[in-house]
Amino acid sequence: MITTQDDILRSAAETALHAPSIFNTQPWRWQVFQGGLELRADRSRQLAVTDPEGRMLTVSCGIALHHALTALAAEGHRTSVDRLPDDRDPDLLARVRITGSAAPTDVRLRDAISRRHTDRRPFADTPVPDGVVDRLRAETERRGVYVAELGADTVVRFQVTAARAGELDQDDPAYQAELTEWTHRPEAAHDGLTPDTVVPATPRKIPLRSFFPEGGEELLPGPGHDGGARYLVLWTTDDEPSDWLAAGEAMSAALLETTASGLGVSPMTDVIEVPASRALLRRLLDNLGEAQAALRIGVPATGDTAPESPRRAATDVIDG
Ligand SMILES: Cc1cc2nc3c(=O)[nH]c(=O)nc-3n(C[C@H](O)[C@H](O)[C@H](O)COP(=O)(O)O)c2cc1C
Repeated sequence: MITTQDDILRSAAETALHAPSIFNTQPWRWQVFQGGLELRADRSRQLAVTDPEGRMLTVSCGIALHHALTALAAEGHRTSVDRLPDDRDPDLLARVRITGSAAPTDVRLRDAISRRHTDRRPFADTPVPDGVVDRLRAETERRGVYVAELGADTVVRFQVTAARAGELDQDDPAYQAELTEWTHRPEAAHDGLTPDTVVPATPRKIPLRSFFPEGGEELLPGPGHDGGARYLVLWTTDDEPSDWLAAGEAMSAALLETTASGLGVSPMTDVIEVPASRALLRRLLDNLGEAQAALRIGVPATGDTAPESPRRAATDVIDG
């Protein structure tokens, strides 16, 4: 059977369906056309209350883009990428073309794509090796996305900020309605958050977003308390859609590097979505830039892998 460039690009888009997204909205569409692959924002899946600007939608799409590029690089394809190529068409986020062949790279990151799942259980007290954070920092910085690690002094300020964001969300009926919509999806939708991927509130350094305020979380927290967890804030100096897309690509590299290193990871973005707490984070960054995402990484406290979330079928997401 002859494998055409379109087949190769379609296969990369299929791999990118594993990408994580805000509330598992999977807010992307892929189009394969002769010799190229286009990534589009699917605005019908944007969270109107939680994400009115489309920041988290664009970050999520940036992750999908990096997943696709990683799949192509691991198969030995050289690519060119035009990001946000058309001012009159802002939903066209990227156009990818295969330009030649090269030695395969990023194979360990590609292999981590299907193994990575958000792990919301508290991590063990075992420390995270410095080497992982160094590699992850190098990956993000070459994309113009910086990493601020929370230290003993800043973790408390972040804690207060996260708690404040949680309170503001809790008091906002429109946010609660949107959350309910995405945590109670019909099974046939193959998206949204399912109770078996979420742990109940448990003693830990920084509380995670509450997805089921009425209870019903089904994932057992296990024995950890996040004692060895490290908290990384990804930030950019500017705050345009191109920065959000870059932050997504960097976040993907960080998630895959963490997974490939045998560690667990979960994104935390309620602090960033709520404008008041994002402003507090800006001060934490000495006003040098804008926070785009935060990650909690750590050594899993149990041997079980984190549960998988649903994904839509390729035929619903990839055209051409
Ligand atoms: C931009 C972005 C923001 C996210 N924010 C949070 C968050 O604040 N809290 C959380 O527990 N998970 C968060 N997640 C994880 C998603 O809920 C998760 O990726 C999605 O449900 C799919 O599950 P999976 O990552 O296991 O494939 C976020 C993911 C992305 C990409």
